[in-house]
Amino acid sequence: MEMEKGPVVATGAGGYIGSWLVMKLLRAGYTVRATVRDPANTKKLKPLLDIPGAGSRLTIWKADLNDEGSFDDVIDGCTGVFHVATPMDFESKDPENEVIKPTVDGMLSILKSCKRAGTVRRVIYTSSAGTVNVEERQKPEYDENSWSDIEFCRRVKMTGWMYFVSKSLAERAAWDFARENSMDLITIIPTLVVGPFITSTMPPSMITALSLITGNEAHYSIIKQVQLVHLDDLCEAHVFLLDHPKANGRYICSSHDATIHDLAGMIRRKYHQYHIPQKIEGMDDEIQTVRFSSKKLLEFGFEYKYTMEEMFDEAIKSCVEKKLIPPQAVEALAENGKLEVTGEQVDVAKAAMNGEKEEVHIASR
Ligand SMILES: NC(=O)c1ccc[n+]([C@@H]2O[C@H](COP(=O)([O-])OP(=O)(O)OC[C@H]3O[C@@H](n4cnc5c(N)ncnc54)[C@H](OP(=O)(O)O)[C@@H]3O)[C@@H](O)[C@H]2O)c1
Repeated sequence: MEMEKGPVVATGAGGYIGSWLVMKLLRAGYTVRATVRDPANTKKLKPLLDIPGAGSRLTIWKADLNDEGSFDDVIDGCTGVFHVATPMDFESKDPENEVIKPTVDGMLSILKSCKRAGTVRRVIYTSSAGTVNVEERQKPEYDENSWSDIEFCRRVKMTGWMYFVSKSLAERAAWDFARENSMDLITIIPTLVVGPFITSTMPPSMITALSLITGNEAHYSIIKQVQLVHLDDLCEAHVFLLDHPKANGRYICSSHDATIHDLAGMIRRKYHQYHIPQKIEGMDDEIQTVRFSSKKLLEFGFEYKYTMEEMFDEAIKSCVEKKLIPPQAVEALAENGKLEVTGEQVDVAKAAMNGEKEEVHIASR
């Protein structure tokens, strides 16, 4: 008989990465306790509850990073904890209290809950590339030894600065706590995560990844020299590292390095309806890529499965299906063979996305 796997906790389970991770864990046979802030929000929970296996092996728990001790109950009796949740409001009017404080205090609150429970064998924290390379001058290559310059972030206040600060301080605090309390902590450092999603709203990283399509210029600085990983590869790495007996420390999880021009060229070639500009205001023609090395993860035997084109095709497809990007995408996807859309369906889809009809059903592969 197969041994019971888990229970494991996934925080931020209603989010882009958390929901996909829950799906992967259920598929892998784990019993999962998913935390959200508002379990009464049935619309937001539906994608989770619809995952095969959810009926028997998924439970939903209420917990908030702002409330000390709020993770005690859900973590009690668990063997593993994936801490994925984080406030990600780049527009916050009070970044210190709305983003930085809950990220750091919440991290410590979760580790204290793990210590109290005494059953948790390993904690996996979803950190961020924002803890590694945010500094005045970009190096050609980064690995797990590098940390972002927090003073630089606070001084320059670039787009997303409060997020970079919050993640850096939280990860550093987590390492201090883990060392002092002899806890088994692994941190995974994803770069920009792109790919399909089961949530119904626009994921924060899609706002950045698809900013050339939506014309959201505030995010161009983030994709000027960008590194990327497919959502499915990232979640696979989370499960892989939970079970790997020799895993320790930080792990960069990033499969591709690109510049804004590489992304623009790729999107322009496949999705010409979006009119991606040839010349991007404020960007030199020659930009060097900055490499994020996944050597440590790959040496453990982990393999990436997806190309950069697949990341964007699948992300755009999810956005189109959920009516989150403009209707031109329907035609583009149809042309690329990613959606089986007929002429009439294109019109129906456009009408629905323009608010003329309530529902749109597009047959997808
Ligand atoms: N996406 C990327 O490109 C990327 C790259 C590097 C690292 N990461 C890391 O990956 C993790 C997940 O990101 P994501 O892209 O999935 O973002 P997301 O879709 O915004 O999900 C974040 C989740 O955090 C939860 N959350 C926010 N504030 C909270 C609070 N005060 N208490 C409890 N939960 C709270 C939200 O929960 P509710 O559902 O309850 O609102 C949300 O579901 C984050 O730690 C992020 O730093 C993401």
